[in-house]
Amino acid sequence: MQIFGIPIFPEQASTFAKDVDALYFFIIATSAFFAIGVAVAVIYFGIRYRRSHDNQIGARIEGNLPLELLWSVIPTIIAMVMFGWGASVFYHLRRPPDEAMHIYAVGKQWMWKFQHLEGQREINELHIPAGRPIRVTISSEDVIHSLYFPAFRTKIDAIPGRYTELWFDAQTPGEYHIFCAEYCGTNHSGMIGTVTVMEPSQYQAWLQGGGMEGTLAQRGARLFNDLACATCHLDTGQGRGPSLKDIMGTTVELTDGSSAIVDEAYLRESILNSQAKIVKGFQPLMPTFQGLVSEENLVALIEHVKSLSPNATPAAPAAAPAPGATPATTPTGTRPSGAAPPAAAAAEKK
Ligand code: CUA
Repeated sequence: MQIFGIPIFPEQASTFAKDVDALYFFIIATSAFFAIGVAVAVIYFGIRYRRSHDNQIGARIEGNLPLELLWSVIPTIIAMVMFGWGASVFYHLRRPPDEAMHIYAVGKQWMWKFQHLEGQREINELHIPAGRPIRVTISSEDVIHSLYFPAFRTKIDAIPGRYTELWFDAQTPGEYHIFCAEYCGTNHSGMIGTVTVMEPSQYQAWLQGGGMEGTLAQRGARLFNDLACATCHLDTGQGRGPSLKDIMGTTVELTDGSSAIVDEAYLRESILNSQAKIVKGFQPLMPTFQGLVSEENLVALIEHVKSLSPNATPAAPAAAPAPGATPATTPTGTRPSGAAPPAAAAAEKK
């Protein structure tokens, strides 16, 4: 949208962009109407009823019930319209459809890293198919960032120690901005990227041209062995740790008598802060992997565990914080060579 040739608003490139804009313009228009009305009335009355000689005294007014009711009821109705409308748009924005395609994002000073379930990894670039809902699960490796897609009218903070998520359905192929919308240090303003919305067939072609290292879950499976998780978490249930087969979405009983739902946040906490929740019948033997597993490897491990539960429904929004979890550092040398698209590799070298 342009006013006098100046671009005021980014394109409406997602299904709910129009809804967000309509609500926004309604709130702006209502606020402007009353702000201008009040200002005009102040000036008009100031002139119309000004004191014209020194001993002039104003009329004594005790109150006016109909008027007072009017200026209470009308703003209440307007405010409730804003609330109801806003809540409905917000609810829609915060509920990804079940069939949404899943992508992981990690914010890091100062870049955005994206990982596709098919194995592709990108830095400051994101390729997605048009006309398909996309759910993005976000974490941070250091400080609070905020993943912002202005053209899609959606934004969510990347918070160290927990997963947040957003979703959108981009309709029109093209390239759009990715911004970091939370001041995160010196190069915050440079923490930008490009999301490329592609025709589904082009996207399939793009997927073929990428990752040689297998899917995210397969990478997770390799890590699972490399980190020796496999020595305790036996599928038979006879290991020193609980079997991870078909656990996604289930409720596990804990030694302290409480229970927990197995979702992404639970898995995250159990890896980084392994003593926080001990499954009933097991000893607190597992070492903590805090600082040993990067955010990117963490999601690979989580995807591996999810792949062991092929029948599980998509986990509920994983927004619960992992208590005591602090940002993990990035181990070096975990990226197999030749894995990233050229642009991503170049960006990471900076
Ligand atoms: Cu990251 Cu601002």
